Amino acid sequence: DFGLKKELEEQIRVFPDFPKQGILFQDLTPVFQNPETVNRLAESFISAFDGKFDRVLAVEARGFILGTAVSAVGGRPLALARKKGKLPGEVHRADYSLEYGTATLEVQQGTLKQGDQVLVVDDLLATGGTLSAAGELVVTGGAKVAGYAVAATIEGLDGAERLSPTPVFSVV
Ligand code: PRP
Ligand code: MG
Repeated sequence: DFGLKKELEEQIRVFPDFPKQGILFQDLTPVFQNPETVNRLAESFISAFDGKFDRVLAVEARGFILGTAVSAVGGRPLALARKKGKLPGEVHRADYSLEYGTATLEVQQGTLKQGDQVLVVDDLLATGGTLSAAGELVVTGGAKVAGYAVAATIEGLDGAERLSPTPVFSVV
């Protein structure tokens, strides 16, 4: 959908050196202020994986927004991958690397079950560390990753290569 791509490119704002030196921050808040665009984004994710997923896993924090939209518009249950220490009960854990140090994502045990086809949703794909950790959580729970869907990918970081051969859908 070329119209949607253009719409996003017009709305995403880029802030150099935020939150630290050398990072080109992609700010999607203008997109989130536009319910029509969010709706079209959700529909584009759903049609890219049409009939291939029965559950959505949204990645904290910015992935919660689009993940919720995909779940609600697509009528598929929503599961949450949260940063360490936020979810009660027994959890599965996956560590991933950040620019400095490591971080951990968690999902509650029993949320994703054998036979589930899970679409993992986030706002942005950069190095792919976050999405590959989320994908690990899906597999640990015995479910399958149907694919990864993001609004935008940062070029030159090989994020999609890192996630291959699982399909990645990105509008920008
Ligand atoms: C950002 C972005 C993606 C991730 C992409 O999240 O929302 O989740 O980085 O980077 P990667 O592909 O190199 O892993 P971040 O952890 O900065 O914070 P958030 O909690 O605001 O989403
Ligand atoms: Mg994030």
